[in-house]
Amino acid sequence: MDLFYRDTLIGIPLLLLHGFPLDHTIWQKVIQKMDKRIRIIAPDLRGHGRSMGSVTNFSITDMAQDVIRLIDRLKIEKVIIAGHSMGGYVALDLYRHFSERLIGLALVSSNVKADSIEKKRQRMDSIDKIYAQGVSYALADMPNLLSHDPDVKNVCAKIIAKMDLIGAIGAQYAMAGRKSSVKIWRSMKIGQMVISGSDDQLISIETSRKISRQSRNSVLIEIENAGHMPMLEEPNKVAEAMKKFILNDQRS
Ligand code: MLT
Repeated sequence: MDLFYRDTLIGIPLLLLHGFPLDHTIWQKVIQKMDKRIRIIAPDLRGHGRSMGSVTNFSITDMAQDVIRLIDRLKIEKVIIAGHSMGGYVALDLYRHFSERLIGLALVSSNVKADSIEKKRQRMDSIDKIYAQGVSYALADMPNLLSHDPDVKNVCAKIIAKMDLIGAIGAQYAMAGRKSSVKIWRSMKIGQMVISGSDDQLISIETSRKISRQSRNSVLIEIENAGHMPMLEEPNKVAEAMKKFILNDQRS
């Protein structure tokens, strides 16, 4: 499907993919702090934000194909991608299928493994709850898990309140069905970065350290006092890390 997106138009292309159940606006503060030599393209992924109206049975690969379609439409051949949590799953899948289109990949509070049996079961429970109660009620605890910062919780709660029910269910199925990207991550031939908040309750700092150690190419950026939303909690630090990753290595 055609995705809604924001584009700063000029510079080395950096695609920012948001997590679940959020949208491109989580990157707003990072976009404001970004170097003018970097072009940011921030879409709403399928089922999220203004890219709604999809069926419930879609996969992470469908979401990755939407992103490829977007960069094709923008006539961009190669990009650097930073994926937040679910956006990281999409970025890894994009590398699996279209590795020639990527010149760098950053995982922000994300994971390279597939869901465990227990995690899949939790997602099916969450789907039942979303059907029965609607997104806002079913995901009422989510902002508390995303951050300990009241302002960030508030921003996230407002985005979640706008989340489409069909999109929320579809994304849960998509995440439950995704493959492991461990081997792909280990054998990547491009620059890799892992950004993680020290207090992330959803994907622990230990998990991120382990992911970064799994690849020779990867740099790890640990952000103190941040949770699962470092781009909102510490936007300066996230923007600095991305600038360094992109400009120092001259990946253009
Ligand atoms: C996210 O932040 O995108 C989700 O919590 C990821 C997940 O549910 O695996």
